[in-house]
Amino acid sequence: MSEISIITIKKWNPKIRNNLIKLMMQYHIHLTLTKGIPFCLLPPELYHFVIPDYSDGQVIESCLNCDLKPLCPGFPANRISTKYAQPIKLIPNEVVIEITRECNRQCSFCHVSRQKGAHLPVRRIETIVQSATQLGIKAIRLTGGEPLLHPQLNTILEIIKEYNLSIIINSNGTIPEILQILVAYPVKNLLVSLNLSQDRDILTRKIAIILQAKKLVPILRIGTVIRKELIENFSAYAKIIHKLKPLLWEVYRPIPPAPDLTQQEWQTLISKMEIFNKHSKIKVKIANFTPLCWFNWKILNLSMGNFADRGHSRVVYRSHPIEGFYLDYYDSHFLGYDLTEAWFSEIAIKQRMLSEISSTCLTCRYRMICKGFLKNKTS
Ligand SMILES: C[S@@+](CC[C@H](N)C(=O)[O-])C[C@H]1O[C@@H](n2cnc3c(N)ncnc32)[C@H](O)[C@@H]1O
Ligand code: SF4
Ligand code: SF4
Repeated sequence: MSEISIITIKKWNPKIRNNLIKLMMQYHIHLTLTKGIPFCLLPPELYHFVIPDYSDGQVIESCLNCDLKPLCPGFPANRISTKYAQPIKLIPNEVVIEITRECNRQCSFCHVSRQKGAHLPVRRIETIVQSATQLGIKAIRLTGGEPLLHPQLNTILEIIKEYNLSIIINSNGTIPEILQILVAYPVKNLLVSLNLSQDRDILTRKIAIILQAKKLVPILRIGTVIRKELIENFSAYAKIIHKLKPLLWEVYRPIPPAPDLTQQEWQTLISKMEIFNKHSKIKVKIANFTPLCWFNWKILNLSMGNFADRGHSRVVYRSHPIEGFYLDYYDSHFLGYDLTEAWFSEIAIKQRMLSEISSTCLTCRYRMICKGFLKNKTS
């Protein structure tokens, strides 16, 4: 593990800020700021990379209105002018809506409780889109089941478009109508799941659809659930990924009921991912909760960070087991029906403020990216 730390910054101005951002983007998670920078001096996407462990911070007036106050040791007003301090208001990057539980596939590993005809009513979806706009959220992600099977998908997309929010779709890519959707609506980001243990004909058709879709959408990502089957057929997956050329290949640590890998299987997968990334322009990354210190920190290079899960940067509206908001796809805490109440619920705030992580994680310099292990969980 290599690290670069910036120790103390005595002055601050927009030029220093911009250079620092460039540096952090370039070195990504290898760069940690251990001293001197409170959260409010960097843009939101970089909060995750900042660990402000320094001792000269003070609580100034701005801190009183800042959502990150519990995590931040305050502003170094003796060194940096307080005119640069700006209270941060945390809002979700996106709201995920499981618009249907119906699906045309039966993936054995799938975490969704699938049910034919279990579609969310359009009026409910419109209410969520409306509250997302009021909260200042910029994007809505539609997922399922297979969202293409919602009988009023066009109406739903019209509504999101009217509210001027970005559209993200998660799809299995087997339904050709996705191409008409991409022509008719400004979908910003399409995530297609790839799973090779399916019928050859379906796979061939799906690849043809994805190749067409790629021309119609600014961002195409491919997502694969981590399973023994992925490890065994890794080179077959790699071949298809090179053909599809997505912006990113994401792999997901399995959510129950899919089983997690054994230690040995994780080691094998990590080696295969490392080799893939070494030789390919397209990168494969783990995109959901996986502690960064696992396997002698090898995960650090392979992870996108864990802020998409557990309500750190978004909430999920599910229709199962009880319809309403949850911290993510699998969390069991029901957060009610109101988006603002869900986002600012005690449990969601506790998660975001890392109030429940173990003492080891609390002193870890990667805690803002990793989000840590919960106190009562072991590895
Ligand atoms: C549940 S699917 C719904 C959208 C669409 N049907 C699809 O397959 O993309 C959304 C994403 O969840 C992933 N997924 C499914 N089961 C999972 C599991 N047990 N653990 C982690 N991710 C899973 C899929 O790979 C997909 O990228
Ligand atoms: S992963 Fe997607 S395609 Fe597969 S069964 Fe689940 S919802 Fe359907
Ligand atoms: S925050 Fe905790 S789980 Fe994450 S890398 Fe640090 S010690 Fe490991």
